[in-house]
Amino acid sequence: MTWFRLAIALVLLPAAHPQNVTGRWTGSFSTADNGLEIIVALNQAADGSITGYVVSPRSTETITTGKVEGTNLTFEADRPGRGGVVQKVTYTGTTEGGRMKLTVPPPNFGGGRGRGPGGSPAGGPPGAGRGGQPQIVELSRVSNEAPAPLPPRPAPVSLPMPTASVKANGLAQTPPMGWNSWNKFRNQVSDKMIREMADAIVTSGMRDAGYIYVNIDDTWEAVARDANGNILTNNKFPDMKALADYVHGKGLKLGIYSSPGPRTCAAYLGSYQHEEQDAKTYAAWGIDYLKYDWCSASQVYDNTQATMAAAYARMGNALVNSGRPIVFSLCQYGNLDVGEWGAKVGGNLWRTTGDISDRWASMENIGFKLQPGREKYAGPGHWNDPDMLEIGNGGMTDIEYQTHMSLWCLLAAPLLAGNDIRDMRPAIADILMNKESIAVDQDKLGKQGMRVSQDGSVEVWSSALADGGYAVGLFNRGEAPAKVTARWSDLGLTGSHQVRDLWKHADIGKVSGEYSAEVPSHGVVMIKVAN
Ligand code: GLA
Repeated sequence: MTWFRLAIALVLLPAAHPQNVTGRWTGSFSTADNGLEIIVALNQAADGSITGYVVSPRSTETITTGKVEGTNLTFEADRPGRGGVVQKVTYTGTTEGGRMKLTVPPPNFGGGRGRGPGGSPAGGPPGAGRGGQPQIVELSRVSNEAPAPLPPRPAPVSLPMPTASVKANGLAQTPPMGWNSWNKFRNQVSDKMIREMADAIVTSGMRDAGYIYVNIDDTWEAVARDANGNILTNNKFPDMKALADYVHGKGLKLGIYSSPGPRTCAAYLGSYQHEEQDAKTYAAWGIDYLKYDWCSASQVYDNTQATMAAAYARMGNALVNSGRPIVFSLCQYGNLDVGEWGAKVGGNLWRTTGDISDRWASMENIGFKLQPGREKYAGPGHWNDPDMLEIGNGGMTDIEYQTHMSLWCLLAAPLLAGNDIRDMRPAIADILMNKESIAVDQDKLGKQGMRVSQDGSVEVWSSALADGGYAVGLFNRGEAPAKVTARWSDLGLTGSHQVRDLWKHADIGKVSGEYSAEVPSHGVVMIKVAN
């Protein structure tokens, strides 16, 4: 062997043997405004197998199996999920000297993934940024010592079912209307964006159409509380009070987001054990609406109905005690019969499913399949929430968005636009601001509509209105145009009735017995039948 070959062999030698990864590795992942630290503690045996654990603000996971081969490593860990269900997740990585590049599997505690008790199968991927994507995290080795075993997890907290109802705040006598940052912008939301959106909500006519709440969703929170435990904003929101003043100055209201758990779904700080304090902070800032998302609460609480209701009641009472009228929006994906207790814990609305996404199949599943049966829980002050609107986000056709809007209005659903109001096509503005369907949603009677007939992929939904008339949706969920017929007998009516088309804004005249219309694929004809 020449000296040259020998040199090459020596250079290649380390790669042929597994390197020892034993020790503690740390890195930060997620966004700049939330520098989340991840700790990977590894213990490597002589045969290359590894054990240890991963700790991040999202979860603590025990490594069950793992292996080092050359500079590659792979390991499987037990990740606690919502409802206490453990999920197996796989990490893969490469090491070079004291550096590790690790692919971290996406979080699993957003809405609807995994079925909690009584849970619903709807939903798209959750998590920080665009949820559902694995993240590549760079870690550095901070110690070579074999890690000490993890202390045992504290026992899940159990709370008794509250005996007294939270005092009703008198808000949301009709379903709340406004805008929310999450569907379109995820962690890109900022003070500047909220101000621009508030401006656009006014200039577009959305405010005057009823869209009043401008809601900041997840990712506004600082990395840590102050020394007194007060929640702080991160650098995307330099002055929340000033922002609220600005939004109020436009004749709008400001909403915010938190969790009953220690972390939100995107792993920012939640309100666990700071409920009263946070409610006071929100009130001092001038917040008018709180969305309260279960997320990591599933890791500290026992996930029973009593405990969940009690955890929500804590914040419900804290909001009342804050002295400021704040709409309380429960987000626990419709689990554990929330309709039975949502209003009692102070909820003005509660999600009924996992997260909506901007696809026909998601909207169809949530709107048509998962709402029936919940009508009895809706009424002035307390509403079923089939999630925010995707209208205008580009994943559905305008016909499908019209169906989305019509169905949500018939359901007396909260109408929280989720698109970029600063940049809205006229067709989208027309859908979101159709005063005649909004009037159905905001009808004083506050009755949630329901399906009254179904024939294959065509169906008719109806909602009783305060003036004795009915709003009726003739829907075609099929792939080809179809004739849809609404029979007066299905509405409890006989004889002839005045009909008005709520999308064409045209009176049809007096119609006897039934009304039929040709409806495009995935489309709707929405009418009002006078009594
Ligand atoms: C959950 C909720 C969403 C959104 C995200 C934010 O997935 O269901 O509506 O608030 O959390 O992280």
